[in-house]
Amino acid sequence: MLLPVRTCRVKTSEYHGMLLQRTWMVFFAAGSIILLCGLLYLDIGKIGFHTTLKLASVPTSNYLSARLSKIENWELPYFYQNCRKQPEAQQIVFAKIHKAASSTVQNILLRFALARNLSVLLPALSKGPILSQTESKIQPEKIIEHPVDKSFDILCSHVLYDTNEVRKYFTNEAVRVAIIREPMNQTLSALRYYATSFPSDGTKAGLKKHPNNPINGFLSHPDHFYSSDKDPRVSFINNRMSIDLGFDSHDFEASKRNKTKIQSFVEKIEKEFDIILISDYFDESMILLKRHLCWSFQDIIYIKVNVLKKEGDPVWYRKPILNSTIIQTFRQWNAIDYGVYDHFLPLFLKRIREEPFFKEEVNAFKAIQKQIHSFCFNTTANCTLRVAKTPWNNEFAVLQSNCKLMLAPETELSELAKIAQLKRFKHASQLNNTNL
Ligand SMILES: *[C@@H]1O[C@H](CO)[C@@H](O)[C@H](O)[C@H]1NC(C)=O
Ligand SMILES: *[C@@H]1O[C@H](CO)[C@@H](O)[C@H](O)[C@H]1NC(C)=O
Ligand SMILES: *[C@@H]1O[C@H](CO)[C@@H](O)[C@H](O)[C@H]1NC(C)=O
Ligand SMILES: *[C@@H]1O[C@H](CO)[C@@H](O)[C@H](O)[C@H]1NC(C)=O
Ligand SMILES: *[C@@H]1O[C@H](CO)[C@@H](O)[C@H](O)[C@H]1NC(C)=O
Ligand SMILES: *[C@@H]1O[C@H](CO)[C@@H](O)[C@H](O)[C@H]1NC(C)=O
Ligand SMILES: *[C@@H]1O[C@H](CO)[C@@H](O)[C@H](O)[C@H]1NC(C)=O
Repeated sequence: MLLPVRTCRVKTSEYHGMLLQRTWMVFFAAGSIILLCGLLYLDIGKIGFHTTLKLASVPTSNYLSARLSKIENWELPYFYQNCRKQPEAQQIVFAKIHKAASSTVQNILLRFALARNLSVLLPALSKGPILSQTESKIQPEKIIEHPVDKSFDILCSHVLYDTNEVRKYFTNEAVRVAIIREPMNQTLSALRYYATSFPSDGTKAGLKKHPNNPINGFLSHPDHFYSSDKDPRVSFINNRMSIDLGFDSHDFEASKRNKTKIQSFVEKIEKEFDIILISDYFDESMILLKRHLCWSFQDIIYIKVNVLKKEGDPVWYRKPILNSTIIQTFRQWNAIDYGVYDHFLPLFLKRIREEPFFKEEVNAFKAIQKQIHSFCFNTTANCTLRVAKTPWNNEFAVLQSNCKLMLAPETELSELAKIAQLKRFKHASQLNNTNL
């Protein structure tokens, strides 16, 4: 017997709420103008000059409402002219960067793969979600069993990026994506996480030297938290984003002062990757990704996972107190990551400025995200959330099971993906141990 499934009645969607609100604003503005004109008419001789000034500043709201009504009437496919000819991209190589919301992107990619029976390059069953934190080599005997002579669709596990290594498992058509974050916040996030969850000798020594404020201690004296003979690949607080992106780990300290080397690394990244996202603009990043891959809202909805919980010694959660000396010291320490970020942030901002109706789509997405949040965290909701149509998506449903997947920890979700995939491979009866 089928159990009855209650359908959630979604209140007027946030999106339409927003439109409604804007419409009211326009009415209100128009009303005010009429009133103002009326009042000024009585006095027009005296302040006629001011009248024109005031009127000239008003059309913004009319312009906005015209823009919005234009979007509303648009057919969905019209909006993505390139997506009409082009199906959604299903091959994606994602360079997973530590502490840059990359677990949330990984969750999105794994759910995308699960929904479409795609093949994800993952470690062998029950070997966790990480390929490697210190190496770029992807060893065939350590990854999930897979059919021979067939490329994978998706990579979203930690492994130091190496374009030649990736090419062994993915076609050139696979879209190369990475996400980066403002380097000070990224490094402090890593410092807090590893110092409280997996304290190393370096962080212990640093804390001894700066017991009251290790955060500021680190920013002014990163070397107190790091022994210079350490391989940067085993550290998470020394230009980790660049290490994850495959920066040469030899002569690392000297490389920080080698502008030519940093510049050519940045150029290499720009050539190798199709799109560099910025986690400080996460929703904007997701919309840019959606447009680039011809995906839908349904594919990019998320609940942030692996966000820092304040555990361990509270001194690690002090806010940094910055001044120019401290900023300068830290920029020198993190010179490679800053080289990368300072290059890609302006490119990202330029790109989203140039995308048509970008802000409008981001706002529509934020409104949907809000609905999903309140749906997924409502313990008494036992129903389906119907997300209404907007100019950018058709109506779609979100089930409680979708919430579960969005909230699933990295390890759980990747094991789930492995099991689904092994079943499929076995079915195809082509499973041929591991040599690719
Ligand atoms: C929710 O729905 C399931 C199956 O549809 C049903 O078994 C369960 O009793 C419902 N729970 C509540 C609290 O309504
Ligand atoms: C994925 O595989 C399952 C089981 O083989 C099948 O039922 C389902 O239709 C497939 N889905 C897609 C989108 O291909
Ligand atoms: C860094 O993080 C702080 C605190 O979360 C935030 O206020 C600030 O805007 C962030 N800085 C940048 C450049 O993103
Ligand atoms: C900087 O790096 C480049 C490229 O790796 C290298 O050829 C050059 O010798 C380095 N310069 C210095 C001063 O170390
Ligand atoms: C910045 O703060 C540090 C530590 O509090 C201090 O030693 C330094 O003199 C300050 N520099 C400036 C320019 O204020
Ligand atoms: C949770 O969902 C139930 C059932 O749809 C609804 O009646 C209730 O108002 C919701 N609670 C919140 C806090 O949204
Ligand atoms: C593995 O692949 C080879 C060559 O494609 C084939 O000859 C062999 O039978 C396969 N082994 C299994 C166990 O399927």
